[in-house]
Amino acid sequence: MQPRILTAIILPVGMNSIRCKNKFNAYLYAMSVHKELKKITTRTLQELKINGEKIAMLTAYDYSMARILDEAGIDVLLVGDSASNVMAGHETTLPITLNQMIYHAQSVVRGVSRALVVVDLPFGSYQGNTKRALESSIRIMKESGAHAVKLEGGAEVADSIKRILTAGIPVMGHLGLTPQSIYKFGTYNVRAKEKAEAIKLKEDAQILEQAGCFSLVLEKIPANLATEVTQSINIPTIGIGAGSGVDGQVLVSHDMLGLNKGFHPRFLRRYLDLHSQILEAVNQYSRDVKSGSFPNEKEQY
Ligand code: KIV
Repeated sequence: MQPRILTAIILPVGMNSIRCKNKFNAYLYAMSVHKELKKITTRTLQELKINGEKIAMLTAYDYSMARILDEAGIDVLLVGDSASNVMAGHETTLPITLNQMIYHAQSVVRGVSRALVVVDLPFGSYQGNTKRALESSIRIMKESGAHAVKLEGGAEVADSIKRILTAGIPVMGHLGLTPQSIYKFGTYNVRAKEKAEAIKLKEDAQILEQAGCFSLVLEKIPANLATEVTQSINIPTIGIGAGSGVDGQVLVSHDMLGLNKGFHPRFLRRYLDLHSQILEAVNQYSRDVKSGSFPNEKEQY
C-alpha cells in the first residue's frame, strides 16, 4: 500500500486551490494561477463608458512613479510627450525623440501590473507619412511592451490611424489643444471657442471614431462642447481642461502633485505641494550633513 501524502501548501494571496486525489489516493492541490488583479484593456475602457463609470488617467515617465500610480488604481498611464517639458525641461513637446519616448515607456511598463500603458507618438514620427506612423508605432510596441499609442490631430491623421491599426496596435486620438501644433496656434489658450472650430472638432471626433480609435483625449475646450462630443461618439473621451461631461480625466502627474511650482491653469487641481515638501526635506538633509548630525550611530555599520 502506498503511503498517503498530504502536502500543505500555503497559497499566496490571489491564488485559489483546487483539491483532487491522485492514483494513490493522495490529495493534490492544484494551483489556479489566474491573477485576481484584472488588467485594464481597451475593452475595459469601453465597458466603463457603457456603464457610466469614469476613467482615471495620469501621465507617467519613470518606473518608480509608475509603480505608485498603478498601485493607486489609475486605469491608464500615459507616457506623454509632456516628458519633453517636465522631464527634460524643454519649452515645448517638439524636441523629444522616438528613442527617448521608448526609453520612458520601457521604464513605465516595468512598473505596471494593472494599468493600460499608452505612449505618445512624438512630433515628426507620424505626421504626413502613414508608413512612418506605422513603423514608429511598431517600434514603441515592440521595444517597450506598451499597450497602445496616442497621436494628435483629426482628419489629417485618419489614414495613419487606419494604417497603424492594420498591425493590431490600438490608437488613442487627441483633439482640441494639441501641443505639437503650438507654433500653428501661437498660444496655449482654450481651443474651439469659435463656432467654425467647434464644428470642425465635432467632425474630427466622428472621423477618429470611424478610423478606429479606441478612445479620444479632449484638451482645453469648452465643457459644453466636450459633453456634446462625448455624447455623439461611442468611444470613451478623456478630458484635460474639458469639464466633467467627459468619460474620464487626465492630468500631468507633475502638475497635480505640485512639482511644477509656477504652473496653475484653471483646470488644474493640485493634490500635493511636492515642490515645498521636497525643498523642506532636502534643506533639512543639507543642514544635517553640514552639522554632522547625519549619519548618527544607528545609521552606520
Ligand atoms: O503629453 C501629455 O501629457 C498629454 C496629456 C496632456 C493628455 O498629451
